[in-house]
Amino acid sequence: MWQSRNPAIAHSSVVRSPREIAIRQDRVAEQASSRLAAKGLEFSESRAKLVLQGKVAGCGAHPENSLQANHNMKALVTISLVATWLVLPTVIQAQRAEAPDQAPGKAEAPASPDPNLAKIPAGYRDWRLISVAREEGKQNDIRAILGNDIAVKAYQEGTLPFPDGAIIARIAWSLVPSEENNKVFGQAQSFIAGAPKNGVQFMFKDSKKYAATGGWGFAQFSEATGEPASESMLATCFPCHQPVAARDLVFTRYSLSGLAGQK
Ligand code: HEC
Repeated sequence: MWQSRNPAIAHSSVVRSPREIAIRQDRVAEQASSRLAAKGLEFSESRAKLVLQGKVAGCGAHPENSLQANHNMKALVTISLVATWLVLPTVIQAQRAEAPDQAPGKAEAPASPDPNLAKIPAGYRDWRLISVAREEGKQNDIRAILGNDIAVKAYQEGTLPFPDGAIIARIAWSLVPSEENNKVFGQAQSFIAGAPKNGVQFMFKDSKKYAATGGWGFAQFSEATGEPASESMLATCFPCHQPVAARDLVFTRYSLSGLAGQK
């Protein structure tokens, strides 16, 4: 995932919406004009661009005021270059981030505004297994539900609601027949996990930060690119988990080990 080293834009890890880009561009222009204002000069973004493109004569066109004008132009060109440098990678990244799930012409809302929900938790693939599930229909996958230590402990001790810091992950794969296994069984009966699909989902417990969505922050990432899902998709998570509000919005129950008396 692209991330700028420039501290002016690096603080927000991913920028996705045209609206956010516009806000950022305005901010850059604001910074530029206030820097110029501090020097008693006036900022004209369009003029600076024209000068850069060579469409407007340079400062020699104002001999009556050439020294000050020269100074002005240099400042404008510098500021404009800085503005372009700040904004351009942001625009490129925004386009990349928007591309994967979008049909052409379909304007998608930006991804989650919470930067914590734009990060895939490190090492989640090594978390412990809570259970598995199989979805037919549109999803048509086989899935595993994993928990970090806080989540698994809460499950095993029957703690509800889940404590802050609990994270539950859901990974899904296509369900494919296994010729290799079928040969061993002597008949077609074996299905295994194929390629990952349907994204990787997370529920992050933070009762304060996510109070508006039952104390859970919902996140989903593309299994292909790692990009966070769009905001409109994330808006579907909480309402659909409502029917299990009594179990703190968590559907999956903990599956025991299979050994009597063991968790
Ligand atoms: C159509 C309703 C529906 C929507 C929308 C939905 N979920 Fe779920 N979710 C479920 C059901 C039902 C399960 C349990 C069965 C399963 O895993 O397939 C589940 C399971 C999960 C789990 C495993 C923990 C649990 O509650 O069992 C996570 C994590 C999860 N969903 C996250 C999300 C995220 C993130 C979104 C939004 C991007 C989302 N879900 C949208 C219905 C939904």
